[in-house]
Amino acid sequence: MDTIISELKTGNIPEHVAIIMDGNGRWAQKQGLDRSAGHVRGVDTVRQITEIASQLGVKYLTLYAFSTENWNRPQQEVDTLMNLIATAIERETPDLIRNNVRLALIGDTSRMPQFAIECLDRCIADTSRSTGLTLCLAISYSSRWELTDTMRRIAVKVKEGTLEPEQITDRTIKENLVTSFMPDPDLLIRTGGDLRVSNFLLWQIAYSEIYVTDTFWPVFSKLDFCNAVAHFQKRERRFGLTGEQVRKS
Ligand code: IPE
Ligand code: IPE
Ligand code: MG
Repeated sequence: MDTIISELKTGNIPEHVAIIMDGNGRWAQKQGLDRSAGHVRGVDTVRQITEIASQLGVKYLTLYAFSTENWNRPQQEVDTLMNLIATAIERETPDLIRNNVRLALIGDTSRMPQFAIECLDRCIADTSRSTGLTLCLAISYSSRWELTDTMRRIAVKVKEGTLEPEQITDRTIKENLVTSFMPDPDLLIRTGGDLRVSNFLLWQIAYSEIYVTDTFWPVFSKLDFCNAVAHFQKRERRFGLTGEQVRKS
């Protein structure tokens, strides 16, 4: 693993990696287990992937842990997920501090149970002095929720007269998103094989490189993450330019 890490480090490491962690339920059901067993294993994967991202020098890792639409799952599964998130965060805080990882949260916290918010807030405060990787959890998050909220906030500024409609640029929108503290993702990974974005960071992934693997999240390994980064390093990011233009600059 150490050789792979140092080899990758000679190339371009994505500053921000975002992951749609999918396939917990299908993995569990394939083993004849309850879906919740998949979520439990999925927490282990979060730990592993946070570690490898940190080792590679990734600056931001955004993990889609629970979507706005996931509130419509059976209540028992929702409860399991909220409990798992809270207990994992509480348990992992000392290691996050030791590894210089800072926790951040994006999502509609007004829908989350109080105990979960308290655990997350505590961890955010306790890790606020870390200067390494920022681990950003998207919980009760969806891009349409975020964009609606952003537009509402911009509309208030226009109504108050502190912002003219003509002054609104894509930068104004970026600055009012809940992700305003991070650059856009360079690499978007989806596990579990589905070719869709499921309401995740729609504005921010405009020019992200997309990597989808059939591997289910509970068994997605450090090596799989390195593979995704290796694929990223082979891509030519053109941002609308021609290949010749990119290679000249
Ligand atoms: C991802 O795994 C975790 C969450 C969405 C919370 P799923 O629970 O969606 O697993 P599958 O996609 O049904 O296998
Ligand atoms: C996306 O997974 C959301 C998270 C990973 C938290 P879903 O399982 O909810 O996505 P769909 O329903 O397959 O699109
Ligand atoms: Mg799923």
